[in-house]
Amino acid sequence: MDNATVVASGTKIAQEIGTTRSEVWRLVQQLRRLGVEIAGHPATGYRLKSVPDLLLPDMLAPLVKGTLFSKNIQHYYKIGSTNSAAMEAARADAPEGSVFVAEQQTAGRGRGANQWHSPQATGIYCSVVLRPALPPSEALLFSLAAGLALHAAIQEIDSRVKPDLKWPNDALLDGKKFCGILTEMNAEVTRVRYIVIGIGINVNQTSFPPDLQAIATSLRLATGTEWSRLEVCAALLKSLDSEYRNLLTKPGARESILRRFQEASSSVRGRQVRIEDDAGLEGITDGLDQRGFLQLRTPQGVKKLLSGTVRLV
Ligand code: BTN
Repeated sequence: MDNATVVASGTKIAQEIGTTRSEVWRLVQQLRRLGVEIAGHPATGYRLKSVPDLLLPDMLAPLVKGTLFSKNIQHYYKIGSTNSAAMEAARADAPEGSVFVAEQQTAGRGRGANQWHSPQATGIYCSVVLRPALPPSEALLFSLAAGLALHAAIQEIDSRVKPDLKWPNDALLDGKKFCGILTEMNAEVTRVRYIVIGIGINVNQTSFPPDLQAIATSLRLATGTEWSRLEVCAALLKSLDSEYRNLLTKPGARESILRRFQEASSSVRGRQVRIEDDAGLEGITDGLDQRGFLQLRTPQGVKKLLSGTVRLV
């Protein structure tokens, strides 16, 4: 990375990292398989053709310096689920602000029993550990705040792109989902031990498996241009840091989250919806209550939604 676009001989690299030339060749092959563009071979030396858009800690940490998320970034080329890794690490006392990012997930998890399609190096799969000194009843606010952080991050990079938030945790473009958030926690009745916020963003996918085609999109498909995952991930962590600090320290932050979520969501008020996991309950959305739960006007009166997938009808 320090000598991108310059030819470096296999011997020199081998000396620098204290190994043999044949091991360097093996490592170069391995990097190529992971999508890193390296020209050359053992006889001519190697040249990093372009700085790869990987979410490596060495590249991500400087971009999020000064935030909660710069000190402990774990990167994986391939992992089951970054949320599972973060939950395990949190249980083993990982510090607040620990970040788990992956280039690919083999068992990406969505809300409920859903999976999260996580192909290599086209999306962002990122989970963070938080340890707020709050009761578990406040957890939904963190989830809504994460959606707002995503919204702000995208707008900061390109103000023409306007994600539409769908309660509680989806972000849509052109009516299709490009981001999902899975918030999990470990708590006592009165106290959160830790929260893991896992964010999946479809960034540069150009196609989806048949079962997702009608409902999923990516930033690239929606805008026609390629996005830097590194830039998106850094902007997201910076926004998340600011939302989180505000929520913990600023009076009125809760009201601000509820207000801004409602402004950034076309479906949180006045939309006919069906709740998938609640015996087909249907109604018209009627804003969020003080804790962030969606209210629904139904023929049986106003109901508060504690969970379930909201389908726009
Ligand atoms: C949803 O919309 O159902 C939530 C999807 C959350 C996906 C992210 S990707 C990073 C983190 N690791 C996981 O296994 N899931 C979350």
